[in-house]
Amino acid sequence: MARVTLESLEKRFPDGTSAVQALSLEIPDGEFCVLVGPSGCGKSTTLRMIAGLETLTAGVIRIGERVVNEVPPKERDIAMVFQNYALYPHMTVHANMAFGLRMRGMSRAEADRKVREAADMLELTDLLERRPKALSGGQRQRVALGRAIVREPSVFLFDEPLSNLDAKLRVQMRAELSRLHRRLGATMIYVTHDQVEAMTMGQRLAVMNGGTLRQAAAPMEIYDRPADRFTAEFIGSPAMNFTRGRLAGSEQFATAEGPWRLPAPVGASDWPESLDLGVRPEGVSLTNAESGDSPQGTVVLVEPLGSESLVHVDLDDAVWVVRSRDAELPRVGEVVCLSIRPGCTHFFDAGSGAALRGMHATV
Ligand SMILES: Nc1ncnc2c1ncn2[C@@H]1O[C@H](COP(=O)(O)OP(=O)(O)O)[C@@H](O)[C@H]1O
Ligand SMILES: [Mg+2]
Repeated sequence: MARVTLESLEKRFPDGTSAVQALSLEIPDGEFCVLVGPSGCGKSTTLRMIAGLETLTAGVIRIGERVVNEVPPKERDIAMVFQNYALYPHMTVHANMAFGLRMRGMSRAEADRKVREAADMLELTDLLERRPKALSGGQRQRVALGRAIVREPSVFLFDEPLSNLDAKLRVQMRAELSRLHRRLGATMIYVTHDQVEAMTMGQRLAVMNGGTLRQAAAPMEIYDRPADRFTAEFIGSPAMNFTRGRLAGSEQFATAEGPWRLPAPVGASDWPESLDLGVRPEGVSLTNAESGDSPQGTVVLVEPLGSESLVHVDLDDAVWVVRSRDAELPRVGEVVCLSIRPGCTHFFDAGSGAALRGMHATV
């Protein structure tokens, strides 16, 4: 087991593409840390630098206490599982898992013992004599995992390992990987663009965008207290609703269309002029109350999901999504009022995107 420390990582490719900038992150020993962000934000490049498959333009990577910048991949005590895990098609599951161990000079008996132990953990015992083409996608992915597990690395690196699986299998494998992490207690760094996968699996998320780290924190901390507008919008589904405006007086948030009566956070007086108000879909409810202060809009879409419904309301400058558990739902075309639940508002500097917090933790 080992801690992984990234200090001011920088990656510029020869063609001038700057893939990663000033990335610092410490992943404690035994943590399941998820690097999450949109496609192209530098996740794979970061993981490949940790693995030693990509050189650093600047910065320091430590695994445990050791600086590994110049250490070849094979000597870093890591195992990596990719989206496209190539299994050897002519070898059995057993041979696929044992291959790397035998290459390193491990005895047949010792390799067999490790393969059987991993197969037991991954419920592959009955499949050990099969070849990859006789396995389902999920089973193949488990063999790829097994191949990593038998090496007993200090650090596991996963690059979108579930993205080739169908939706149901992905959910199942998510749970299996989390269980595996608890069982092995190893440090795991998991890359995904899927924020649901990140939220459900990560003990801690490191949210990236445009090659930079935006926020590293526990999933619910990020959900409740996003550091910036990008993170607020990226994490959570449906996404947070936003409206641009400014504070007008102590009790009001004003948009171009008019004032909404919202409690202005204590300490907001020195905030910038232009603000983005953000509210998650569960922070808004629909009311019939005709009140000049609350935002009004026209229902443009109603999506019943069974346990709840999503009501899309056009507020002129934005369409907001309301998560509703009401039995009676408005119809498309109906005019409704929105009521924002106390403590559910987020404010951001419209210029920099940085989150602004009042003296109360909730605003
Ligand atoms: N070998 C390369 N040469 C030039 N640019 C690259 C190379 N590999 C990746 N990039 C660029 O670096 C950025 C980050 O890529 P990547 O780390 O693969 O993103 P992610 O895994 O988050 O989707 C992208 O703009 C990508 O096009
Ligand atoms: Mg990638």
